[in-house]
Amino acid sequence: MKRRALIAGNWKMHTTVMDACHLAAAIAGQCADVPDRDVLLAPPFTVLSEVSHVIRESGVIVGVQNVCWEEKGAFTGEISPVMVKDAGGTAAIVGHSERRQIFHEDDSLINRRLLGSLRFGLLTILCVGETLEQREENKTFEVVEQQTRNGLAGVEASVMDKVVIAYEPVWAIGTGKTATKEQAQEVHAFIRSRIENMYEKSIADQVRILYGGSVKQDNVDALMAQPDIDGALVGGAALDAESFGRIIHFR
Ligand code: PGA
Repeated sequence: MKRRALIAGNWKMHTTVMDACHLAAAIAGQCADVPDRDVLLAPPFTVLSEVSHVIRESGVIVGVQNVCWEEKGAFTGEISPVMVKDAGGTAAIVGHSERRQIFHEDDSLINRRLLGSLRFGLLTILCVGETLEQREENKTFEVVEQQTRNGLAGVEASVMDKVVIAYEPVWAIGTGKTATKEQAQEVHAFIRSRIENMYEKSIADQVRILYGGSVKQDNVDALMAQPDIDGALVGGAALDAESFGRIIHFR
């Protein structure tokens, strides 16, 4: 089954308005000759409107790195899906390992974020992945299954076309250590089998599963050649227009 590739750039806590506009413009300028794949940028909230403006008409999708489940209210420090849409965003990442590890977000909080994001129609990327310690204890599959099941709790089959899963082994994020293509493929196939188990084969076949963790221009082709790797969630290399441009043009 051929799924449309998705290359997403997570800018994390980087870029001022000026940097963001330059970077977004340089990336948008490289997307014209790849109409067969989706490109998504997740800049900080503070530059969301500017980035949305810069990429308009380029086909690039803009989203946020985290999102609240409510439309509005007393949620100090949070951003609602309605605000995201108002600023031109149509996508959100939830459950990134930095949210889990640094800010102690757990599966149930991440599930609320995911449900809220979907309720307002955002394309939502749920991140899952084991730590080094969990991998060494042979708990990779257990952890990934739990995060996937708990993260997707209550998600109806009818909105699964708006869900993307990102497998990001924590030990590979920002470390320069990528999972081998075999390690990544093995976990991707496992996640797809769990989705089939939770829903049905047609949904498992269409859900896009991205790999994240030190994706660079020199490893993207091998990763993308794997049957269950449908795209990449890129951190460090997404901040450089040339590197990210090459990643978008994976072969
Ligand atoms: P990295 O980050 O590409 O810098 O490893 C990936 C991510 O955190 O999504």
